[in-house]
Amino acid sequence: MAESAPLLAGTAVVDQAAPDPLAGRRILVGISGSIAAVKLPLVVSALVQRGAQVRCVLTPSAAELVSAVALASLSRAAVSLDGDQWNHREPRPLHVELAEWAELVLLAPLTATSLARWVHGLGDSLLASVLLATEAPVLAAAAMNTAMWQSPGVVRNWAALGAFERVLPLAPSAGLLACDRQGAGRMAEPAGLLLALDSLALWGWRRDWQGQHLLVTAGPTREWLDPARCLTNPSSGRMGVLLAHAARLRGATVDLVHGPLAVDPAWLEGLRCHPISTGAELQERLVDLQPVATAIAMAAAVADHRPARPQLGKLGKAALVRAMEAGWQEVPDLLQQLVATRPPGQRILGFAAQSGDVLEQARLKHARKGCDLLFANPIDAPGAGFGAATNQGWLLGPGERCERFEPASKLAVAHRLLTALLALSPGA
Ligand code: CTP
Repeated sequence: MAESAPLLAGTAVVDQAAPDPLAGRRILVGISGSIAAVKLPLVVSALVQRGAQVRCVLTPSAAELVSAVALASLSRAAVSLDGDQWNHREPRPLHVELAEWAELVLLAPLTATSLARWVHGLGDSLLASVLLATEAPVLAAAAMNTAMWQSPGVVRNWAALGAFERVLPLAPSAGLLACDRQGAGRMAEPAGLLLALDSLALWGWRRDWQGQHLLVTAGPTREWLDPARCLTNPSSGRMGVLLAHAARLRGATVDLVHGPLAVDPAWLEGLRCHPISTGAELQERLVDLQPVATAIAMAAAVADHRPARPQLGKLGKAALVRAMEAGWQEVPDLLQQLVATRPPGQRILGFAAQSGDVLEQARLKHARKGCDLLFANPIDAPGAGFGAATNQGWLLGPGERCERFEPASKLAVAHRLLTALLALSPGA
């Protein structure tokens, strides 16, 4: 990552080693009137800093909540307000011009009213007409009070939106709402919106994982010598978290079992998370969750050994050396165990982080572990390995298959791995 990271760029899924999927894209940001609209100037700013061209359309109620002046300044473009539709002096109607200009549409926040208009095909405002007229993919992020979100009309309209082509619906998460209620209704944070937009640009809106249940492991495990020291590794968990997200956006039910992560917390929104620390805790969660999964991606960096005699109290310096010399036990190979206990049809992807001759060691590891696919990546190449925004490597199996992955953002790698995993004949 660049040292002088721009606003929110630390949460971007790309760096200079791979093309930014949003750079140069024409993105129309439609904002309707929920208090979550106050998050949008940050999103617009981040998009512009990543090289996107941005234009904003505000509904009348959104214009009460967020400043058109601020959005115009941040987007470097004129903002369109509802009344502009009838002040337009150009030959083409404003809603058609905006709809055809857009390559991607971000509709955030999506309120109950905007949702109802859209689902019922009403074009009685500028934003409503743009949504009917555009043929671009739309990321729609809902936000509203919990009771509104759970009301029968909204539930029905949201379900209807799920059947629309070209639309990636992003349900709100639970949390503290501006009305002081705890519950479902919070719009995704800016980093979550940007991640979903990256996914829309890279993969599109197709939900080919619908009906599948993916179990993903991510991040490091820690084996404790005493309450203050542990054996671990520098895995950030980024590859696994992005796999979980990509699968969720493609329609899968996802369980994410993870060690301590070093990713933006907003990336965990909407995921079913199971935090763990040690290899034994990871093993316990896998035993619980394996039976319901149709596929598993084992991206966790499992620490290989645990102390034979972990201490309950903190050790002094001399005692610490004695404890380290007292012996270690190997942590069982959890991936091998998953392969041995898998139900019929369950697909399994393993990972191998290697230095030196990646391919030769990965071939041996693939044969030893018995998983369907193994993605082997170098940890000593620039733009790959622990914590990097990009990844590269080889995908092995089944049989002699060996596919090269050139450097790409970890989200792009995640999508490609999901496509390969889904294409496997079950139990191959
Ligand atoms: N793995 C596992 N259980 C372990 C060690 C690793 O399930 N005790 C899994 C990892 O999640 C990964 C794959 O096995 O999917 C390869 O992990 P890696 O650390 O590359 O290999 P190791 O088996 O630990 O072998 P080595 O450290 O000797 O390279």
